[in-house]
Amino acid sequence: MFENISIEIADHIAVLKINRPKQLNALNKQTIQEANRALNEIALDQNVGVVIITGAEDKAFVAGADIKEFADFSISEGGSLAQQGQELLFDLVEHFPKPIIAAVNGFALGGGLELAMSAHIRIASSNAKMGLPEVSLGVIPGYGGTQRLAQLVGKGKANELIFTAGMISADEAYRCGLVNSVVEQEELLDTAKKMASKIIRNSPMAIRSAIKAVNAGYKSGVNGYEVEIEEFAKCFGTTEFKEGTSAFLEKRKAHFRD
Ligand code: CAA
Repeated sequence: MFENISIEIADHIAVLKINRPKQLNALNKQTIQEANRALNEIALDQNVGVVIITGAEDKAFVAGADIKEFADFSISEGGSLAQQGQELLFDLVEHFPKPIIAAVNGFALGGGLELAMSAHIRIASSNAKMGLPEVSLGVIPGYGGTQRLAQLVGKGKANELIFTAGMISADEAYRCGLVNSVVEQEELLDTAKKMASKIIRNSPMAIRSAIKAVNAGYKSGVNGYEVEIEEFAKCFGTTEFKEGTSAFLEKRKAHFRD
């Protein structure tokens, strides 16, 4: 069904693997389209509560947009590449109604780091290397990197990483707030799954509202506090709110899933 990605679903967790290891999982157009299709299916799948995105094999998460594909692009083709990529994948990931954890298992460069930064949470393996090397190619990050890197690490550090086109280690990424935690590569997927299983115990509707409210604070022209009030209010109309509060009062565990 898919050529460049694979999906495995178990225990309410979907693992979406970018699967072009010979090209270090570089994101070409087809891969972005396949990931878009898979995520749209997962969004509707009641059985899935959390998505983990990772890269095939142990060398790379994703080594960037596919340079071979865009090397002879014109100005307008460059614009379409960035716009379509942002719409089809990066914005979809950021605003996905279920938590997405990026398990960064190796090189996460350019579009690869941009994909990890679109995710709600990042866990890196200790051998991971991250950076936005686009200016070394004569271009700038086009999949949201100039915005999301500054949001995560602050403007000064983002500028340093973008202007130098350098790579940082997983430990440095942790120190500057780019990743939530660092673990050995053999433990990466299990660590992400453990976090996912904690998330899955909670109300899917409340989590969807939390994603909307947190993201609202980063959208220009939108008042995050107002969105928080709206989403908070909506929760009071859900069966999950009734279940969560009843469970607390009855001194039992809440059951939000079958
Ligand atoms: N696009 C296309 N192919 C890529 C690729 C990319 N981003 N990254 C790696 N590959 C391919 C290589 O061309 C090579 O293929 P061949 O065997 O056919 O030559 C294969 O993957 C293995 O790569 P290397 O031989 O280069 O492996 P290495 O261990 O020597 O180096 C690396 C690893 C440092 C990650 C190096 O591959 C590299 O620098 N890759 C490019 C990183 C990059 O510049 N990413 C940004 C892309 S631009 C972007 O993402 C724009 C945007 O924001 C929209």
